[in-house]
Amino acid sequence: MRIFSGIQPTGRKHLGNYIGAISQYVSSQDRGEGLFCIVDLHAITVPYDPAELRERLYDTTAILLAAGLDPARCTIFRQSDVGEHTELTWLLSSVTELGRLQRMHQFRDKELAQRELVSAGLLLYPVLQAADVLAYRAAEVPVGEDQREHLELMRDVARRFNARYGGGEEVLVVPEHRIPEVGARIMDLQDPTRKMSTTGSGESGTVYVLDEPKAIEKKLAGAVTDSGSEVRRAPDKPGITNLIEILAAVRGSEPDAVQDEFAQARYGEFKAAVAAEVVGYLAPVRERYEELRADVPALESILEEGAGHARAMASETLADVRERMGVGAPRATPARGTSGTVDTVPG
Ligand code: TRP
Repeated sequence: MRIFSGIQPTGRKHLGNYIGAISQYVSSQDRGEGLFCIVDLHAITVPYDPAELRERLYDTTAILLAAGLDPARCTIFRQSDVGEHTELTWLLSSVTELGRLQRMHQFRDKELAQRELVSAGLLLYPVLQAADVLAYRAAEVPVGEDQREHLELMRDVARRFNARYGGGEEVLVVPEHRIPEVGARIMDLQDPTRKMSTTGSGESGTVYVLDEPKAIEKKLAGAVTDSGSEVRRAPDKPGITNLIEILAAVRGSEPDAVQDEFAQARYGEFKAAVAAEVVGYLAPVRERYEELRADVPALESILEEGAGHARAMASETLADVRERMGVGAPRATPARGTSGTVDTVPG
């Protein structure tokens, strides 16, 4: 089974991203054929700095590798290296309803937030995202709940394409959304009623994957707790509940087990234990990251190899799509029995 996910090129990955997304990518390597695409073309739909984009792309590549994505077992690549994504975006734009794009939440939010130009790229963002996945006929897309609308759109685009051009066949696979259960619950340390994010309550509420141990300890020591003194999950104890969930996620155990273990502990002791565990969880990632990030040529060669694999898969889909849409020269059919040689178009 093919599993596809797209990752924004930023070095600011936080604990919620790590537990909810990145660690799921790592475990998906055992379930199927993973494709992990760093989406630099999505990143240019809002104002950005070109030199900075390159750096953040390397940061992200190094984080993914440090987390345990293994280029021998999955495909890690840069979106802009595989031209099929943009070509498919254009082809799919003709089966995408304009009004639907204009109503997408992310478009409307960003449109409102934008002081400069609202680019057409921002509007087409979801079509590019659909092309990312559909180009590989991926069955599963592990991304957060916040991507629901994008997933629905890509499913509809695939269905409409198949209905219009498929002649009863599933030319494009309609992918499933796989929402991680755990990461979705990692909340901001300063405001545990909202999800941990890069834009939340600020630095002190968010633990970054690349934070130094000292910084992690400080953030956890300063995490808001609730009234009362019991380490127990409860609706009126969002702060402690969050810390219990974090500890369970990091240990790979159950919140109930954490709760039992710390039933007699005071808040301070409990927070220190959570900090120690989070440091132990992230420190090896940060160390591997430092090493990997220092060798840009090695990162480039991993990305290049990944792009080669990806292109081979995507170009097959594109050949089908072009053929079905009647675009370009009719497809040359491979001569039977002759390994891989292709007939030239009869003259
Ligand atoms: N829009 C996604 C996000 O912001 C990133 C993304 C781009 C993506 N292409 C994708 C996710 C394809 C899943 C599949 O997180």
